[in-house]
Order: sequence, then C-alpha cells, then structure tokens
Amino acid sequence: MMEAIIITGATGSMGAVAARKLSAQGIPVILACRDLVRGKALMDEILGQTPSARLELLELDLSSQARVRAFVAQIGDRRLGGIFNNAGTMNRHYTQSEDGFELTMAVNYLNVALLTRLLAPNFVPGAHVVNMVSMTTKTATLDMDWNSYGKERFGQISTYGKSKLAMLYFSIAFARRYPEFHVNVSDPGIVDSKIIRLDRWFDPLTDMFFRPLINTPEKGAIPALRALESDSSLNYFVGKRSYRIPDRFLNSPMVDSLWDQASFLLSLNQE
Ligand SMILES: NC(=O)c1ccc[n+]([C@@H]2O[C@H](COP(=O)([O-])OP(=O)(O)OC[C@H]3O[C@@H](n4cnc5c(N)ncnc54)[C@H](OP(=O)(O)O)[C@@H]3O)[C@@H](O)[C@H]2O)c1
Repeated sequence: MMEAIIITGATGSMGAVAARKLSAQGIPVILACRDLVRGKALMDEILGQTPSARLELLELDLSSQARVRAFVAQIGDRRLGGIFNNAGTMNRHYTQSEDGFELTMAVNYLNVALLTRLLAPNFVPGAHVVNMVSMTTKTATLDMDWNSYGKERFGQISTYGKSKLAMLYFSIAFARRYPEFHVNVSDPGIVDSKIIRLDRWFDPLTDMFFRPLINTPEKGAIPALRALESDSSLNYFVGKRSYRIPDRFLNSPMVDSLWDQASFLLSLNQE
C-alpha cells in the first residue's frame, strides 16, 4: 500500500498544482487546508479530473501551535509517505500569532518545524519531506535574537526572508536527525500567486508589467514535485536543476542553535 503525502496550503496556487499532479500519479494525498470550504472545492475538482484520486481533507491552521497539534492528533498513528510543507504567508504588517510570535515567522517556520517534528514518527523510511524556501534566503540575515524582534525590526520582505532562511536551517537539522528520510528544499522562483501581492498602491502596475513575466504556478511547482521524487537529502531544487545546499548553510552554527531554540520555544524534546 502506498502511504499518503500531506500537502499544506493545498488550496494555494502551487499547493493545488501539486495535489492535482500527485493525484494523477495515483499517490494518496492529504489536503491540509485552513479553509475547508475551498479545500472541498479543490477535492471535488480533482475527483472530477481523476475519479480514482485518493484524497482526504483535513483542517490545518499554521498560525497556532494548538491547531497544529490538533491536526497531528487527527493523523493519529497512521503511516505517511511524507509532507510537502508548501503553506506560507508574507504579512504586510507586524502581527502576532496566537502564541505570541511574529506571524510570518510562526506560519512559515516555527509551526512548520512543530508540525514536521511531531509527524516524524509517522513517516515511513524513505519518506519525502519537501520544504518551500525562496530566493530571499540568499540575501536574508537571521540571528538568534529573531524572537525578540518587535514591530520596529519588522519588514514585510525582510521578515519573510528570515522565515525562509530559518526553514532552510531547519531542513538541514531535520535531515541530519532523520537520515532515513529524503529531506530537501524547493525554491519556485517568482510565481504568479496571491502571496506576492504586496498590498501597496503599485500592485496594479506590477501586475500589468511583471506578472506576465513570472512563473505560472504549474512551472513554480516543478522543483517541489521533483524534490518529492528525490532519493537523497540536503538538495536545493530550483527550476529544473538541483544542487547540494551550499556549505555556508550546511556548516552554519545556526543549524543546531535554531533547532535547540525551537525545541525550547515549542516545548519539544531536543531529539
Ligand atoms: N509566489 C512566489 O513567488 C513564491 C516564491 C518563493 C517561495 N514561495 C513559497 O511557496 C509557497 C506557496 O506559495 P504560493 O505562491 O503558492 O502562494 P499562495 O497561492 O498564496 O499559497 C499559500 C498557501 O498557504 C496557505 N496559508 C497561508 N497562511 C496559512 C496558515 N496560517 N495556515 C495554513 N495555511 C496557510 C494559504 O491558505 P489559503 O488558501 O487559505 O489562503 C495558501 O493555500 C509558500 O511557502 C511561499 O512562501 C512563493
């Protein structure tokens, strides 16, 4: 029997593409969505195209640790083929999550770390863990103080970059602790989707001039779909290429420091 892959943010542009493609390949998919009405619409659409699709819809809201734990409780002890950590946000204004963390960091990094670590016992050997990063990781800076940043240090794009860099470090730490899984990151490039709206006056202008030049969700999802088939770990998938995550990230002391910090912030064991 083939185990299911979880796709977070399945109602999003690239999440939906991945759900359609995996379903067409006969892979069971758990659609993890915060909006069950839109999740059900996606499920019906996929079943219309692929009547044999094996789909399940579960609620997942990454803005809250309690809701992440509620999702994991619904999974119970079932075996999983992996997870595509696709959901993400880029909040314009400083906002706090239910647990008191800056919201973009909570949704894109901290609660994804919680979800993935709690699900690790469910993953079968050879399971695939694919984490969405971004080209912003290349220029982002992150220090161990990130959790004490207040409103004054918040920036829509800079905080988003920090969250994706933290996710890259998390991916490395997770891959080292679980060598039996295939753990990789995927960078979709710039993709025409809701997340890249900056909610500024110039959005209509950028829509007009730049959206036609950027990747469609179908193209943006390609590296993640390839990463979901990878038989190795610690690779950076972008476009049609993949390469080993650069040494400056692999050798960074942030890999272990962030893991330990997350263990503390999320009340998890260090393992
Ligand atoms: N678009 C780009 O240029 C780009 C570039 C680099 C990386 N990425 C990354 O690619 C991933 C997918 O983004 P996208 O471009 O496909 O954007 P998108 O269409 O806006 O999809 C984002 C998904 O994340 C979900 N989400 C947001 N907040 C959530 C929360 N609190 N709990 C659960 N789910 C939540 C959204 O749910 P709803 O459907 O309910 O809104 C949506 O399904 C993200 O991780 C993003 O950071 C995107």
